[in-house]
Order: sequence, then structure tokens, then C-alpha cells
Amino acid sequence: MTDSPRAANLLAQLEHLNEQQLRRLLVEHLTKQKLGLYWEASAIERDAALNADLVLPRLVEEWSCTNVGRVSPSGRNPTSGAPAHGNVGLRDDPANPTYTLPSPAGGRGAGGEGGFTHRNLIIEGDNYDSLRLLRATHAGKIRVIYIDPPYNTGNKDWVYNDHYVGANDRWRHSQWLEFLYRRLALARDLLTPEGVILVSINDENRARLELLMDEVFPGMRVGSQVWRTRDTTSAKGRNFSDVHEHILVYAREAFAFNGREKTQKKYKNPDNDPRGPWNGDPLTLAFDRIQRKNLFYPVHNPKTGRWYPCDENRVWAYATESRVENAATLQAETMEEWIRREKILFPTEERVVVWNTLDELTAAIDCGDIPVTPKRKRPLLTRDTPDLEFWVGKPVGFGRPLFKKHWVDLQSHINPVSSWISRINEIYDDEDFVVMRSPQAGEGTEVIQEVLGSKVFQYPKPPTLIRELLRQATQPNDIVLDFFAGSGTTGQAVLELNAEDGGQRRFILCSSTEANTKEPDKNLCRDVCAERMRRVIKGYSGRAGYTPEQGGEFAYLQLDKVEAADAHFEIDAAHAFQLLALKRLGVVCAASEGAVQRLGRVEDCELLVCNEVNDASIEILAAWPQRHGVARLAIYSTRPKTLSEQLAARGVEANCYSLMDALLSGQRGSAI
Ligand SMILES: C[S@@+](CC[C@H](N)C(=O)[O-])C[C@H]1O[C@@H](n2cnc3c(N)ncnc32)[C@H](O)[C@@H]1O
Repeated sequence: MTDSPRAANLLAQLEHLNEQQLRRLLVEHLTKQKLGLYWEASAIERDAALNADLVLPRLVEEWSCTNVGRVSPSGRNPTSGAPAHGNVGLRDDPANPTYTLPSPAGGRGAGGEGGFTHRNLIIEGDNYDSLRLLRATHAGKIRVIYIDPPYNTGNKDWVYNDHYVGANDRWRHSQWLEFLYRRLALARDLLTPEGVILVSINDENRARLELLMDEVFPGMRVGSQVWRTRDTTSAKGRNFSDVHEHILVYAREAFAFNGREKTQKKYKNPDNDPRGPWNGDPLTLAFDRIQRKNLFYPVHNPKTGRWYPCDENRVWAYATESRVENAATLQAETMEEWIRREKILFPTEERVVVWNTLDELTAAIDCGDIPVTPKRKRPLLTRDTPDLEFWVGKPVGFGRPLFKKHWVDLQSHINPVSSWISRINEIYDDEDFVVMRSPQAGEGTEVIQEVLGSKVFQYPKPPTLIRELLRQATQPNDIVLDFFAGSGTTGQAVLELNAEDGGQRRFILCSSTEANTKEPDKNLCRDVCAERMRRVIKGYSGRAGYTPEQGGEFAYLQLDKVEAADAHFEIDAAHAFQLLALKRLGVVCAASEGAVQRLGRVEDCELLVCNEVNDASIEILAAWPQRHGVARLAIYSTRPKTLSEQLAARGVEANCYSLMDALLSGQRGSAI
């Protein structure tokens, strides 16, 4: 960790301490126990992805998808020459750069001059690099991250620095934790204030991952969900048959699952209550009279004069004023206050008995002729009831008072439940229960086979599982990121959900090539992830495809890495254009040729890139506001000051920014 800014900061602070102070600090450090997870970070080989260079996106047009096969930058189908079918996002008129493009989420105009505007991304490469790019372009913009990282099963299920990590690797767990730690720390910065990260994990590694998540996302733990991966048992092992996995949920404070709207079915209004429909709720708490002495008392109905005994195993939910010295200090309302507000529902038709003597009462107790609890029929008065004489000579009601829960006072939705391990007699169709349902893991493989013709990817997740998670966790315009995308299941789930509810969710899938020393030419991202998405978008096995409006398109990005010191020489115009389009507009489109490129428009401001400041480009820029009817220009340029002066001299006001500063911002420095 000595390369991180945090470590550098600490070192700088230690510089000022004298020897004695340093010794004291060391002793404190050596003796103080930390609560949490330790792993060996210094002994393991450094993660090859970690370096201080810059990551730049490069659009690979021929591997991108516009829903019409390969579309040339002119927006024409390269084989037929006909205008591309379903060409939303294509330039309307190549001669006139003031075209209209679909507005991405947030209502900003967008688009480059070169062609199709992509709003979905597939990013090829090590996800450490993809995440570094996204930190520069999407910090604070992603609401939902779902990942299904390699589980570190020991069955060589993941690659660290080009070699598979097997069961006998001495630092297996430390490498895995360090590898995930670095990536999760970058991902944390991408979340919006309502953001959530959902992480799939098996039972074996859940505990380690959960402690790691606590470290990276302190205070953000929401809980976990369990899903059944299969119904068949396995002969492996002597004890459990492993049929479940977990999904860990960590979220920022403003996050909430969508849950489900409550239904009014149970709420009625037989007494024409002006507050509207209500439902009778039990008026008791799960504490006994020893645990909550003050909540064990007789309740009195002031209208009828009847008395109701308290269940000694479930006391009243509200205190009585007669037992509270200062009712004003109570946080909840008193029983009397609720009665005054007519929120307590006393039985109208019930048996009422008066025992005139203690003997009469005890005789009734002995023969069981006394009030009982509604479900278990436990007697509410016994010979051991404290102050039994209180009940002599009073009218005692045999019914139970209830709390009137009004529909208007309810939260409008119910949250999903976290577990599928059901209680005996639990009814899943209960309207107060939101159970997420998923098919078994086999669905993932079946879908891959159907889409790609063979089982080219092992253990993909079922699209239904991810779709159900996204249904609960996303809003219709969210960006969904999966940085262990593998075969791209998350992308398919996003499209399926959009088609169901008309949403405009976008996906960002980061997938590695999985190339390694044994298979140097392997490219999982291109040949499985992108190919799957292309076929899903086109429609497969008789299923409808997706229009670009439904998200049926993606840009395929590769990453180029440039040493910071060489940035001025190695960053080319296309890199700059893509990076700025992603940063400012969250879209990708092919850059046009020429000294001035249009990125798009934000409100009334035209965003432009000027790669060469010369007479020709200044003339184009000076004429831009009038020619395109825009009020303001924001221009990224290699020489912003000169450009600004030259334009001002021609009476054109423009905000000119340093292209290099814009490219470097958010790129340097590790997240840790
Ligand atoms: C368990 S699989 C995810 C499967 C995915 N949920 C699906 O349904 O297809 C984990 C994926 O992470 C990928 N992976 C491992 N290390 C990676 C890295 N450093 N960068 C990007 N992807 C990586 C692996 O190639 C593998 O495809």
C-alpha cells in the first residue's frame, strides 16, 4: 500500500514525529487489535493491472452494434448502401452538423458528427483499467452495480497476472482479496447518492467477501439475499448439499428497493370512518409482564365501561397514563391518547361478565370460563394473576381490543424479503410478502446455448435472477454496471427489463479477454459477451430483438494505456473525443475528421473539440454560433488561451478549456 495517496499522506505526517513519538506509535500499533479482515498484501505478487498510467478509450466500430449489423459512419448499411434500418442516433444529414439526436437520460442533447451515438458500453480489458476509466468519466453517476466475481473456488476459476489461481496457491485468498479490494474501492466512487452494489458469492467465500465489503463500504451494509441455485442434491460431501448462493447488498443511505405497492384488499371501512379504510392490527407486543411491567395493566373502554385483561405473555403495545409519571416525556402515544383519537377498536358484540365475588371469579378460572387469547386460547386471568381482586365487580369483556391501522397512514410499498428459507405455514402469496423468484442456475447455460449455439461459457447467471434484482434495485433511467460481466448476462437482463416496463436503463459491461499464457488469442469479451449481446439485440429463437430506443445497441471499447509523461504525444484526437464525450455526455460516437469536432449540446451550450488552433479552425469556430443557432460555446483545445483571445477579437465569446487538463482529470491517483 506504500504507493497509495493514503500511505504517502501517512508517511508525510510521520516525518514530523521524533524518535520517542515514533516508538510510542509503533508499540500502540503492535498491541492494538484491529477488528476486521487482514490479508497478506505485501507478500503477494503485485497485480499487473496496477500502474500509474492513463487509460484511454478507443471505439472499435466494427465490433460495436447499432442493431442493423455493421453500420458505416455515414449511417448507411455497408452492404446494401440503403439507409440503416432503425437508425435512431444516426446523423440525419451529413452535410449539416446541426442534427437532432435522442436525448440521453438527463435530457441533454448529445452526439458527435461521426455517426451513431452509443449509450451502452462494452469495455474490453482488465476491469481495473475499465474502472479507472469509469472513475474519470462516470464518478457519482451509476446507481446500480451488479457483479459476479470469480469465487476463488480453487478450481482455477480466475486469472491473476496471467496465471490461474489454483487450490494450492499459497496466497490464494490474499490475492483474491487484494484483487477485489482494489477494484471495489474504484467502484465505490462510481455510485450515486442512492447507489447500490449487489455482489454474488458462494457460501464458502461469503464470510471473507462480506468482511472485505465492510472495509470498502463502511456503514453501507443493507443485508444479503439467498437464492436457490438448484433443486437436485449432490453426492459430493457428507453433509450439506450445496444448493444456494448469496447476493450481498451494500448501498448508500438514500437507496431503497422498489418493493411492491401495497394492495388495499385487507382494508375496509364498515363504520364509515372519515379517515378511510382500515384494518384491525393486534394491540400487543412480544414481551411478557416481567419484561415490560408498565405495559401490563387492565384496559378500560370509557364508552362502555368494560374492562379488558392483559395477556401476560404479550403485553399492551402502549403505556397507560396511570403508570407514567410524565406522559410528555414518552416517545410514543399512550393508550388513553389512542382511545381519545378513536384508534382503538373495542369489540361491539362480545360476551360481558361480572364476577361479584373473588370466589365466583376463581370458580370461573377453574372451569376455564374466562376471556382467552384469540389464537392460542390461553386464559387471560389465572389464580396467579397479580391483583386478581381488581376484576371483581367490574364488567369484563371477552373480546380483544385492536388497533385501527388506517390505509392513509401506511408507507405505500412493501420491501422484498431476504430469504427463501420459509417458516412452516408461510404463505408466499400473502400480499404483505414480496418474494423474489428465480429459476435455477441451469437457466443461464440454457440461454447461452440458445443464443450462441453452444455452451461456450461456464456458469453464467440466469438472466431472470439478475432481471429480478434489477427490477427491485433500479429506476427506469439508471445506468447499470457489471464489471465482471463474463458472458454479458447483465446486459441481457437490462434489455429484458426495459422491454417489459418501457424503461431506458443503460448497461456498461466490462469483460476481460481471458487471454493467458495458454490461450494468448482468446477474446471472451468480443466473442462471447459482445456476440451474445449482438444476437440478443437482433432477436434469437423467435424472440423479438431490441430497437436502439430500448437499448438495442452498444459501443465496443478497447483501452489504450499511456504513460502520464507521454500523454502530450500519445493521446490522439479520437482518444480525446471519446473520453470527453463519455465524461460530458456519457455517450460514445465515432469522431469526425477535421480540426473542429462537435461533441454535442448541453442546454444552450455547444461542446466542441479543437485539436489544431489555426486560421481555418478559428474561422469555423467564429462562425459557429450564428451558423448553428447556439448561444454559447465550450471548446476544449490544446491552446485554450490563444483560442479564447482570437475568438474574442472576432466578437465571439467562448469558454475555452485545456484539452489535456480535461483528459487527465480523474485519471491520476489510486482510489486507495
Ligand atoms: C463468474 S464469471 C461472471 C459470469 C457472469 N455473471 C455471467 O453471467 O456471464 C466472472 C467473470 O469475471 C471475469 N474476470 C476475472 N478477472 C477479471 C478482470 N480482472 N477483469 C475483467 N473481468 C475479469 C472472468 O473472465 C469471468 O468471465
